[in-house]
Amino acid sequence: MTRVHKFSIPEIIFGRGSLSYTGLCARQLGGEKVFLVSDRGLEEAGWVARVIEVLEAEKLRWVYYSEVVSNPRDFQTHKGAEYYLQQGADVIIALGGGSPMDAAKGIALVASNGGQIQDYEGANRIHRPLPPMVFIPSTAGSGSDISQFSIITDVGRQVKMSIISRTLVPNISIIDPLILETKSQKLIIAAAIDALCHAVESYVSKISSPFTEVQSLQAIRLILQHLKPAVATRSLEHLEQLSIASTAAGMAFSNAGLGAEHALAHSLGGMFDTLHGLVHPILLPHVMRFNLSACTEKIAVIGEILLGRPLGSVQETAAAGIEMLETYCGELNVPVRLREIVQDRSRLEDLCKMAVNDVCLLTNPRPAGWEDLLHICWEAW
Ligand SMILES: [Fe+2]
Repeated sequence: MTRVHKFSIPEIIFGRGSLSYTGLCARQLGGEKVFLVSDRGLEEAGWVARVIEVLEAEKLRWVYYSEVVSNPRDFQTHKGAEYYLQQGADVIIALGGGSPMDAAKGIALVASNGGQIQDYEGANRIHRPLPPMVFIPSTAGSGSDISQFSIITDVGRQVKMSIISRTLVPNISIIDPLILETKSQKLIIAAAIDALCHAVESYVSKISSPFTEVQSLQAIRLILQHLKPAVATRSLEHLEQLSIASTAAGMAFSNAGLGAEHALAHSLGGMFDTLHGLVHPILLPHVMRFNLSACTEKIAVIGEILLGRPLGSVQETAAAGIEMLETYCGELNVPVRLREIVQDRSRLEDLCKMAVNDVCLLTNPRPAGWEDLLHICWEAW
């Protein structure tokens, strides 16, 4: 019997210079006073001033909120929501990587639904509509501008909470590849590897569909083709292709979910405040090996893209593909062993007991208990 699929994405405005449509978009959504969320890095690169200029040209009033850090915290969303309500804003614009965008979703959520951000942890727990949201991603990776995910750190429990709901999909995503030109090499790699991981995990997810699988594979092909040249040359042509890849991966994982790798990555971020994108080169090959028996054919499809051709059997192609991915990650000059980012091996058990409760694990193709996750961590150590 055919399963029922749903596929939800924002309106997407893509292209060089598309940032200039931001004011118009906010206006079309009924906004009169914008709540702009961004961070120091984007202020320094001049992009915050540029967005404000565009808003003022559209005669919109605005307030600015920048109390957001990498791995955004629960209290930052509470404070932001209070400020949003106090200022009487009516539309939220986020400019940034995953952190400002996830924080903006948390602010929109608490401002409109009340309570604490913790009340909404998990899937489908939001019952009232959010304010209109226009998101401008500044990295090609997180997919938060496309997705129904928001990841917020619960400081008290040292847990990165996954909050998933269709109401967290922004109304409009404005993707302007020109913003990528001001990003560092390290951030370009971390973001692209995050997108690659979104693509791989959504492709093998238990709830993938024909609508998501095509996007996952498109993202994998584009990242393999363009990441290294983008890092070497910083040319806009390659950066733009990474933007397309990240958007495709966002469409895929938002609708198909992720897996054990992201469950572990969230716990690592919650416990050790690690940079999300740099966790994947360490864990992804080992999670794929763990999943291999549950989705050999699909991993072989990924393997064929990595290898450029199929080998003698599906098993061979899948296994060689994972090895090739490991080699590829090694060549990016990023940490590839878990011990490089976690100093204390004795904390791995707690880490895995936390990860086993992450909602991302529900869509992993092979069921995994905390002992399985611990085994994956040892393999990656
Ligand atoms: Fe991610």
